[in-house]
Amino acid sequence: MHRTTWIELSSEALRHNVSVVRQLAPKAAILAMVKANGYGHGANWVAEQLNSQANGFAVARLCEAMRLRDSNPQARILLLGTLLDREVLQKCAQSQLDIVIHDLASAKLLANTPLATPITVWLKLNIGMNRLGMSAGEFCDAHHLLNSKSHIAGIQHMSHFSDAEEVDASLTQQQAKKLAELSASLGQHPISMANSAAIIAHPTTHCDWVRPGIMLYGDDPTQRLPAELALKPVMRFKAKIIAMRDVANGDGVGYNRRWKAAMPSRIATVAAGYADGYPRHAPDGTPVLVNDQRASLAGRVSMDLLTIDVSHLPQTAVGDEVTLWGEGLTAAEVGSHCGTISYELFTRITTRVNRYYS
Ligand SMILES: Cc1ncc(COP(=O)(O)O)c(C=O)c1O
Repeated sequence: MHRTTWIELSSEALRHNVSVVRQLAPKAAILAMVKANGYGHGANWVAEQLNSQANGFAVARLCEAMRLRDSNPQARILLLGTLLDREVLQKCAQSQLDIVIHDLASAKLLANTPLATPITVWLKLNIGMNRLGMSAGEFCDAHHLLNSKSHIAGIQHMSHFSDAEEVDASLTQQQAKKLAELSASLGQHPISMANSAAIIAHPTTHCDWVRPGIMLYGDDPTQRLPAELALKPVMRFKAKIIAMRDVANGDGVGYNRRWKAAMPSRIATVAAGYADGYPRHAPDGTPVLVNDQRASLAGRVSMDLLTIDVSHLPQTAVGDEVTLWGEGLTAAEVGSHCGTISYELFTRITTRVNRYYS
């Protein structure tokens, strides 16, 4: 098998991570976030692995929901805030999708759209992100509009935190209070607010449904989980060295010779580039692992290739394996060098990269 550039995806790590969610939030139902193709890991694969541990799944686009529904006829699937019209509402009802209602206009449309099968809605309150979600007044109006309708199977209340990973908990507590108080004033409805950071750092926000995303895939956005609850990386991004060369003191490497050798150096050329999903803007010094030892990027990332300085690893040879992120080098660490986050790195792996699921 000709294999130069691939990701390995570990079901054991995924199941371990969801068990951490379960330990942190023992009473809440788990809505696993599998949008953006399961944060790049493969939504259907993630759903299959988590089938018995997650109580439902959430996606951002109707096409993602439909694909997930095809392979998961029984699963609870939530379509997050999107543009809704009558046709979309009918499709959601036919496919038994829950939907987020994030504005009053959509609530009015839904109230006046007869549906063949009743649908469960998650009303979204804007608690400070100012992205999606209703004001308190609109939220109450939407709730009253939909509460008595026979084509509404149930109403849940949700919101999304803007700063849950911050060390100072006070803003998140204030945001949580907004939804908790408003929801209580409208009767008893299931509440959902906690993303990964809140699951880890704000236990009082767990309520009825938690919505873990990035922590399922092995990144702790708060960096505060104790060692006994450490998450495991699900994705390992790997590539092989396809060329080696010695460069003289002062020689440059790669486009525009951005990296310059400060001494005679040994450069390995690796079969991964920005067309595979490795960030083009990665600076010199971004870490990689060569045979489990650290080395660093030397020169601009190109479409299919990147170059690393392995002067300190004399055993390195053509055919050796390089870990771009995974075990021993987190995507978060790579992201911190590149001015981005693990979420973006995971979701940018492209289709030409082979996938090996274990
Ligand atoms: C509405 C909503 N809930 C939960 C999440 C999960 O967030 P995280 O991946 O940080 O756990 C997201 C992700 O962006 C989201 O948009």
